[in-house]
Amino acid sequence: MNYIYQNPSLTPMERTLNLLSLMTLEEKVGQMMQISYSMVNPTEAEEWVSKKFSGSFLHVLGDNADHLQELALSTRLGIPLIFGIDAIHGHGLLNGATIFPSQLAMSCSFNTDLIEKAGRVTAKEVAADGLHWTFSPVLCIGRDARWGRIDETFGEDPYLIGILASAIIKGYQGENLSDPNSILACAKHYLAYGESTGAKDAYDTEVTVRKIREVFLPPFKKAVEVGCATFMTGYQSIDGTPMAANKKMLKGILKDELGFEGFVVTDWNNTGSLVSNQKVSPDIFDASKKTIESGNDMIMNTNDFYDATLEQVKKGEISESLIDEAVKRILNIKFSMGLFDGKKRRGYVSKDVINCVEHQEANIQLTRESMVLLENKNNTLPLKNIKKIAVIGPNADDIQAQFGDWTFFSHPNPSPDAIPNFEYYTMLRGIQELASSKEVEVSYHKGCDIMNKEDIDIDGAINSCKDADVIIAVVGDCLALNGEFKDRATLDLSGSQQKLLEELKKLNKPLVVVLVNGKPLSIQWITQNADAVIETFNSGTLGGKALAQILFGEFNPCGKLTISFPYHSGQTPVYYNHLPGWHSPKYADMPVAEPLYSFGYGLSYTNYEYSNLKLSKAICSKEDTITVSVDVTNVGESDGTEIVQLYINDIVSSVMTPVKELKGFKRVFIKAGETNTVNINLAISDLIIVNADEEYVVEPGEFEIMVGSDSRDQSLIKEILTVK
Ligand code: NOJ
Repeated sequence: MNYIYQNPSLTPMERTLNLLSLMTLEEKVGQMMQISYSMVNPTEAEEWVSKKFSGSFLHVLGDNADHLQELALSTRLGIPLIFGIDAIHGHGLLNGATIFPSQLAMSCSFNTDLIEKAGRVTAKEVAADGLHWTFSPVLCIGRDARWGRIDETFGEDPYLIGILASAIIKGYQGENLSDPNSILACAKHYLAYGESTGAKDAYDTEVTVRKIREVFLPPFKKAVEVGCATFMTGYQSIDGTPMAANKKMLKGILKDELGFEGFVVTDWNNTGSLVSNQKVSPDIFDASKKTIESGNDMIMNTNDFYDATLEQVKKGEISESLIDEAVKRILNIKFSMGLFDGKKRRGYVSKDVINCVEHQEANIQLTRESMVLLENKNNTLPLKNIKKIAVIGPNADDIQAQFGDWTFFSHPNPSPDAIPNFEYYTMLRGIQELASSKEVEVSYHKGCDIMNKEDIDIDGAINSCKDADVIIAVVGDCLALNGEFKDRATLDLSGSQQKLLEELKKLNKPLVVVLVNGKPLSIQWITQNADAVIETFNSGTLGGKALAQILFGEFNPCGKLTISFPYHSGQTPVYYNHLPGWHSPKYADMPVAEPLYSFGYGLSYTNYEYSNLKLSKAICSKEDTITVSVDVTNVGESDGTEIVQLYINDIVSSVMTPVKELKGFKRVFIKAGETNTVNINLAISDLIIVNADEEYVVEPGEFEIMVGSDSRDQSLIKEILTVK
């Protein structure tokens, strides 16, 4: 041991300060560099490590990562690299790892235990691959379904996003960052990124600071509270100020006000974008200076930041203390996670965990609970007394559409021809396997292409339905219409899917529609014409298995939507927690004001009745926590899990507040015929609003307390609470 910082018995900060004092300016600026392995050749990658001392790489896997790490450890101070990867629904960029349902899909489970477990499984698989850090979770609020990245969100509710994010962050980071199975989480994209105008990704966001504090900041605040180690700066601008240059949001709110102690990484070339896209900087020099001064610590994939920053620090145009501050944060995390002590090298966690049986078990549980039964007319489901099923549709046997974005098919380079080297269940395979165990015959026809309108074979599809007792039509979207760079103008079914469905309907057989898609689509016709509808979103490796279990009644569906479905694309953005004040009751050319399906909605093979809503205290003070209790009776014939939801409305407030806001929920298993009394705690401090002076206050007065099975008025029973 030559240096003090190598002594593992010192605290991470003691070691950091010692190391920092030994570093040259070049080594320090190098630590701030995150190089994309997909954007440099192998020699350049090596040079970034050995000559420019880069601190991090992203999108590098396996032997390549190992090799770079060896090089880093052999440099003068032997500072290990930190490897980041987009493992956002499982370690999906590695062909072979467990792929979970997308964030949007998993959020519909409302199951914090399973989501934490998914985080843990992902962490183990990422760690086994020798990597250290996932760029997850996404805490953007999914309000405008046309936005390409809706699939990456936990839906439209800030409270729920905060709760689910905390769960997955705990899963990733474990009890202790130095645990060999723990990886860093990254709360992204800070801040209000999903809100960009017209659902145009990375575009300008027209929100005020008050609104940011009230709606968009709370999930990120939760992430700080649970110790999320890193944050990622959003691409977009807020009222004309790009996030990467937003000192008020990054340094002011995140670091100084919320006390975030980890480090902030920019998004992909945010610094370069200040010059090329957003045009607030004339050159890379100004852009680098702004990036540093605003509070970004690590720079993702803007490689000319290095020289531009060195030059300016040497000339005294950028203060070296700002570089020290950024590097201190990065090194402190590196020490905290045991990187310097060999704990996070490949081989430390056995590769056998990747997609192991235990991980598949966690995956199937989460996948089943993520699926949402939207319609079930005349109890079409579960399937009974059938001899033959016709499975029709472009997404029935398409694993890429089923996975959605952020797998090896799409990143770091699009590889549509990649062959999965693991077992996976498309919807078709899942149905075929379970049907065959029940001696039910299955026919299959693709029917049409999801993009090309001309590619349709109605006769073939109809022929395949001959003698079938039920048709299962699997439609939705695909990678060309879902994910980063895939914002949409219309949410209508693409290609000739609508025509295919209409032709199938004419056969007068029970029609079950299964949706495989990244986001809510405009499916009014399906709602009206299908006998049953199941939303699966992007369900991952075991989607087909989970779907089959639901179709055949081996699992009673319990997922609830975390995002509203519009009647029509023109109704977007549509979300349940909107403000009051619209003069019209509805759009003149739409039947109702409400969405087609609302937040919190989802059916089951049983029904629940709510009664006896009670508040432990009807008049209380701001410091109180009350218990809201309700009796929930399973009035059907199957046992089931209900997600009981608690909403509030601040009846009169100094600034307008949403018509409803989720403030609590509980998942309860209730046997057929039984009643459970469900208690949900409500802290009065959670009734906080941000007033016109941007102060956080609970305003005295009356609040409506609403409990029920979804966010629609007709599903809720209500009581009044008075806060003194
Ligand atoms: C850009 C995306 O916006 C971000 O979510 C992702 O983590 C980075 N690229 C790295 O791939």
